[in-house]
Amino acid sequence: MRVLVTGANGMLGLDLGAMLEGAGHEVLRTDVGKREGMEVPDWIPLDITNTEQVQQFVKEHQPDAIFHGAAYTDVDGCERNPDLAYKVNGLGTWNLAAVAAERNIPILYISTDFIFDGKKGTPYTEMDAPNPLGHYGASKLAGERYVTQLCRKHFIVRTSWLFGAQGPNFPRKMLELAQTRKELKVVGDQTGSPTHTRDLCRVAIDLLTKSSLYGTYHVSNKGQCSWFEFAKATLELAGVTGVDVHPIPSDEFPSPTQRPAYSVMRHYSLELQGKDDLPEWKDALREFLSLLKR
Ligand SMILES: NC(=O)c1ccc[n+]([C@@H]2O[C@H](COP(=O)([O-])OP(=O)(O)OC[C@H]3O[C@@H](n4cnc5c(N)ncnc54)[C@H](OP(=O)(O)O)[C@@H]3O)[C@@H](O)[C@H]2O)c1
Repeated sequence: MRVLVTGANGMLGLDLGAMLEGAGHEVLRTDVGKREGMEVPDWIPLDITNTEQVQQFVKEHQPDAIFHGAAYTDVDGCERNPDLAYKVNGLGTWNLAAVAAERNIPILYISTDFIFDGKKGTPYTEMDAPNPLGHYGASKLAGERYVTQLCRKHFIVRTSWLFGAQGPNFPRKMLELAQTRKELKVVGDQTGSPTHTRDLCRVAIDLLTKSSLYGTYHVSNKGQCSWFEFAKATLELAGVTGVDVHPIPSDEFPSPTQRPAYSVMRHYSLELQGKDDLPEWKDALREFLSLLKR
C-alpha cells in the first residue's frame, strides 16, 4: 500500500514510517517541519491546515490510505492559543478527512485520552461519552467528529501517555533530570496508561492495512500508574540509583491546563474482536529502555 503519513517527523510518526516500511508498504512522509538537529528520513513538506496544499498533494501522490498523526500536541500551548489548536487539530483533520472521503480511501486518525474528563474512576471504553476539560482535548475531539462524519472508512485510535525512542517524552526527561538531580518531584494524583509508540504502531498498521472493521479503538499499554509511579519505574528499570522520587499533587505543578485525573482506557473494541494483545506498560517500558541503550 502507498500510505500518506502526516506528522512523519514527530515521535510517533518516525516509528510509524519505519514500521510501515518494514511491513513492505510505500510511505509518503509529510510534515510541516522537523526538530532541530534531528536526523529524519526523506520527507515532503505538507501543512495540513492548507486545504489546497492537501488536495494538491493527494491528487499528485495518489495514496491508498492515510495515517493522520500530525497535531498541535503542546497541551499548555493549546490553552494559551486555542485558535491554533482548532486550526491544526480541527481544520487540519477536516482537510485530511475530506480528501480521504473524496477518494474513498481509509484514514486512521490518532486521538487522545484527553477527550475524557477523567471523572469516571474506572477504565473508559469506546462507548463512554467524551467530555474534554481543555482545548487540546476539545480540538482533537473536533478532529474525531470530522473524520467520523465525512469518512465511512475511518479508524479513530485513541491513545495515551506516549513514549518512543525518537522524540522528547516523559521517561527520557526523567532519565535526563536524574543525571543532575538527587531529588525529583513528580505528580502523583493523575493516573493513566503509558504507551510505547511501537506497540501502538503495530496495532494501528494492522487496522489501517488489513481491517475493514471501521470505528473507534482504544490502544494503550495495559495496566495503569501515576506519573510518580511511571518515573520511579523508569529509574528502577534503567538501574539509576541515588535519586529520590517524591509524589506531589497536580496543583503544585504550574500549568494552564486542567488534565484528566484518571484517563485509563479499556481496549473494548479490540477485546470484542479477540485481538487485545497489548503488553503491560512495565514490559513496554523495559523494551523501550533496552532500545535506548542500543
Ligand atoms: N504524546 C502523547 O502522549 C500523545 C497521547 C495521546 C495522543 N497523542 C497523539 O498522537 C499523535 C502523535 O503525537 P506525538 O507525541 O508523536 O507528537 P509530535 O512529536 O508533536 O508529532 C506531531 C507532528 O505533527 C507536526 N505538525 C504540527 N502542525 C502541523 C501542521 N500544521 N501540518 C503538518 N504537520 C504538523 C509536528 O510538527 P512541529 O513539531 O514542527 O509542530 C510534529 O512533527 C498526535 O496526533 C497526538 O495528538 C499523543
